[in-house]
Amino acid sequence: MRLSRKDWLFLALMGAVLLIFILISGEEKTVKVPPDEIHRSFYETLEKTGSKREAEKGCETCHNESSMPFPKDHPPKHRCLFCHKMQQAVR
Ligand code: HEC
Ligand code: HEC
Repeated sequence: MRLSRKDWLFLALMGAVLLIFILISGEEKTVKVPPDEIHRSFYETLEKTGSKREAEKGCETCHNESSMPFPKDHPPKHRCLFCHKMQQAVR
């Protein structure tokens, strides 16, 4: 069977919907970044820069395999704040 252009578009759309669904459902369950002394500077960075990419620099100085190992089934982790939300609305 040959798939037409329309079929591919349809499949891509379904894939996107599924992906968004997974991301949304994951968001509610994932542990949030504690708003404590340790993490306060990250909250401040996010507030100042408005950039999660900036704010999550430095997480791995503490959270790494040698000092604070991640749970065994931890997903790929280069974008911490994409999954681990900050707790209060900072802006
Ligand atoms: C200075 C070291 C340090 C840095 C930097 C740091 N953390 Fe932490 N983190 C800790 C410690 C210690 C704990 C456990 C105590 C606590 O809850 O604060 C913790 C706890 C957590 C938890 C909760 C774990 C649980 O069991 O509830 C998450 C999520 C987390 N950190 C994410 C982050 C993210 C994301 C960043 C970067 C924005 C970050 N941390 C930066 C030291 C650090
Ligand atoms: C793709 C999504 C995702 C990304 C990116 C991610 N994590 Fe996680 N993290 C999870 C999930 C899922 C768990 C399993 C525990 C839970 O939150 O239910 C977890 C668990 C943790 C825990 C342990 C929490 C506990 O209570 O045991 C810490 C600490 C943590 N992550 C820190 C980080 C840091 C620091 C980064 C960035 C270097 C990061 N994570 C990136 C999804 C993610």
